[in-house]
Amino acid sequence: MKRAILITVAIGCLAALCFVVSPATRASGPVKSASGPGKKEVTFNKDVAPILYSNCAECHKPNDIAPMSLLSYKEVRPWARSIREKVINREMPPWSPDPAYGQFTNDHRLAQQDVDTIAAWVDQGAKEGNPKDLPKMPEFVSGGWEIGKPDVVLQMAEEHVVKPDDPDNYINFFIPTNFKEDVWVQAAEIHPSNRRVVHHVIAFIQTPQMMAKRVEDSKAKGEKLGKRAAGGSGLFYLDGNLRRVKMDAPIVDNACDQKVAAGGRQPGGNNEGENEGMLLAGFAPGTGNTVYPPGTAKRLPAGSTLMFQMHYSAFRGSLKEAVTDRTSIGLIFAKQPPDKMVITSAAANILFKIPAGDANHEVVACQTVPRDIQVINYMPHMHLRGKDMKYEAIYPDGRRETLLWVPKFSFNWQSVYWLKQPLNIPKGTKLIVTAHFDNSTKNKYNPDPTKDVRWGDPTYDEMMIGWMDITIDNPMKTPKPDAARATGQK
Ligand code: HEC
Repeated sequence: MKRAILITVAIGCLAALCFVVSPATRASGPVKSASGPGKKEVTFNKDVAPILYSNCAECHKPNDIAPMSLLSYKEVRPWARSIREKVINREMPPWSPDPAYGQFTNDHRLAQQDVDTIAAWVDQGAKEGNPKDLPKMPEFVSGGWEIGKPDVVLQMAEEHVVKPDDPDNYINFFIPTNFKEDVWVQAAEIHPSNRRVVHHVIAFIQTPQMMAKRVEDSKAKGEKLGKRAAGGSGLFYLDGNLRRVKMDAPIVDNACDQKVAAGGRQPGGNNEGENEGMLLAGFAPGTGNTVYPPGTAKRLPAGSTLMFQMHYSAFRGSLKEAVTDRTSIGLIFAKQPPDKMVITSAAANILFKIPAGDANHEVVACQTVPRDIQVINYMPHMHLRGKDMKYEAIYPDGRRETLLWVPKFSFNWQSVYWLKQPLNIPKGTKLIVTAHFDNSTKNKYNPDPTKDVRWGDPTYDEMMIGWMDITIDNPMKTPKPDAARATGQK
């Protein structure tokens, strides 16, 4: 990794003005060479605005996820020092994976040359420059769909009200698709109507059979449709609407040999989605939209209902008055059945226990891949004590490879990492996901370092999921799909 930085620095040096800080001193002190004789003046209008427009504005615009807009000189000037620091430290734009492993289409790290330009601009006094140099401001379609015009938009039937003193809540909403035939989803975008209180949304697919069973179950129990259940495993209990693992449940920190008991969804196996249903798409700060590569799509069976699992949070009183949300999802369909079918799978461990005060507790989940698959993206998921996560493969020939390494996990920024090239994983490969948790006082996000922590819905409990979208050859395209699926053959 160090070497990669050195090389880009050297190239930046040749290609442009040499505003270079050596990697060893990157984070400290002003860049002296920038203001030296013969060096061109760097201004906001000419040099910095274009960088901010194309690398920062998507989040740093009015009413978006970032705390401030960075479009005009007036808006940017007070942040100059902080911007310099964040781009030099590579905290902005946000990107967590170690670049040594995997290449990703949504890797938005700044070019070293742009980092140097911003640093030089600040060191020269953050001048505005000539208004004539200012490029046209980027245009943003407000409320528009980033994936393009959806073929269909489905929305919660009613508004949900979140009051300032509401506790964190998981609520399921059901939205019938009324699709007469199977469709193949090429792209999906989830739009909360109120991003402040929508912590996450997961859209699950409920087939007509699953829905019928739900309706029957809720009638038998006399409960509202979609009420969360503790489940039959005996490991969980319900705390209001929140599902939590019992403190005295068996403890398995390294679940490598216990894939069934410790959770997860088999990649390409048959047990996909027995609890909530098959996953269609998700939304959380940083996730971005779901857009599958051409020839790849996810099946949404005829007559399915979508279940939005909504995590609403009033953020412990930061909300001043009651607000409403009515989330919707936009879908774009593939025009024909794709060659590759997408399945969302996950290596997960639900049986770990993180002791109070432990600053580096290791939790491992494993999966043996039951058929040839291709991995197309990764999404590590933990809560506030999550520190790092690594995905590895041990191939049938014994070779061990790191697939993804996120050394500094951020709960506030959970991205999906889309591979540039699908990764072929042969049948029999073992996937290992290793995470570390910081339950000590050193973790400033830690809700309570004095408590042992287990798996649970609320953010003050933990989770450990190595999500992956994988593809298999589309069984619907083979002559005898049912036989092919039943035997796992292609
Ligand atoms: C994908 C979204 C996204 C992009 C792109 C992005 N930011 Fe941010 N930025 C955020 C969010 C969210 C925060 C607040 C939370 C945090 O600090 O992580 C933030 C915080 C910041 C802060 C600190 C604000 C504070 O309160 O101290 C600075 C400075 C900043 N960004 C600068 C930039 C610059 C410069 C760029 C482009 C080179 C950029 N960001 C690109 C999302 C983004």
